[in-house]
Amino acid sequence: MSRALVVHQVGGPEVMKLEDRDAGAPGPDQIRIRNRAIGLNFVDVYQRTGLYKVDLPFVPGSEGAGEVTAVGAGVSEFKAGDRVGYIGPAGAYAEERLLPAARAIPLPKHIDFETAAASMLKGMTAYYLLFETWKLQAGESILWHAAAGGVGLIACQWAKALGATVYGTVGSEAKAALAKANGCREVINYRTEHFPRRIRELTGGRGVDVVYDGVGQATFEPSLDCLRPRGLMVSFGNASGTVSIPDLGVLAAKGSLYVTRPTSGAYFATTGELRKAAEMLFAAIRDGAIKVTINQRFTLEDAVAAHRALEARETTGSTLLLP
Ligand SMILES: NC(=O)c1ccc[n+]([C@@H]2O[C@H](COP(=O)([O-])OP(=O)(O)OC[C@H]3O[C@@H](n4cnc5c(N)ncnc54)[C@H](OP(=O)(O)O)[C@@H]3O)[C@@H](O)[C@H]2O)c1
Repeated sequence: MSRALVVHQVGGPEVMKLEDRDAGAPGPDQIRIRNRAIGLNFVDVYQRTGLYKVDLPFVPGSEGAGEVTAVGAGVSEFKAGDRVGYIGPAGAYAEERLLPAARAIPLPKHIDFETAAASMLKGMTAYYLLFETWKLQAGESILWHAAAGGVGLIACQWAKALGATVYGTVGSEAKAALAKANGCREVINYRTEHFPRRIRELTGGRGVDVVYDGVGQATFEPSLDCLRPRGLMVSFGNASGTVSIPDLGVLAAKGSLYVTRPTSGAYFATTGELRKAAEMLFAAIRDGAIKVTINQRFTLEDAVAAHRALEARETTGSTLLLP
């Protein structure tokens, strides 16, 4: 018997209940995985609160790593005992889970379970944002909001390794020091400083080429004032609330700006795209361009406390749930 955190009704962190829930035998083209480490991500919060729609009841969690314990009909690539990592679909907050084999990624020797679960969703997101949404070049400048967060800490290191100048925002002085040690040339505490003014100063009035914004409502509009003419606003998340643009004229007035709202679903639609992103991430970790920082570990039983900490902006870097 396996245990899982199950959500029957959307709501606060307390709606997640630990239950006995047998993962069952894998169906055709599925594998069963015994999770060794599970990644915590903001998408888990959006799904738990109902901001992102899911069919109830559901088991949250879109990132994990462990051993294959069984394979279904038609699966030839994996066998029991193989080490794999994965991102999405939900179902990771469990001791054992089923997964479409096409979404599993074999782990190379140098990637342990904790590193995989702490980096795959966040780092593969960083990959598509830095290499696909905008092909970041040496000499370009970017602003990354929540630079000390899970995605932020990985992405800022990677962007610096590509030769970009990275500016970050954070919500505390301790986070500023962390972001500075992980790729940011300058870090702005947006609770105490007017970040668009500071970005203009730092860029000699020009503005940055790209703003990456996973904070959303609280930062979207002022971020447009940080961009150079024809710069790109990448709104990839909504930790502080969702974003809407009432009038596209705003983009004209601020310099013919581009805006995109990307999701991993559109970038990793095929197994090939998914595997390429994982390969790039694992290579960047192997080569030392990215150091994965796990700053919080919770047991699966303590997932409620983990969600509270994430929503209260108390976490930095990656957070794991350990079954
Ligand atoms: N589109 C995609 O494909 C994709 C994939 C993965 C993640 N994401 C998005 O990337 C963002 C970061 O995800 P993550 O899991 O790595 O989380 P995270 O950055 O570790 O946590 C969110 C951070 O946002 C900042 N924040 C500002 N206002 C906040 C508020 N009102 N409530 C909570 N946090 C607030 C906090 O940092 P400060 O205290 O420094 O402000 C907080 O630590 C999220 O928006 C997530 O949805 C998008």
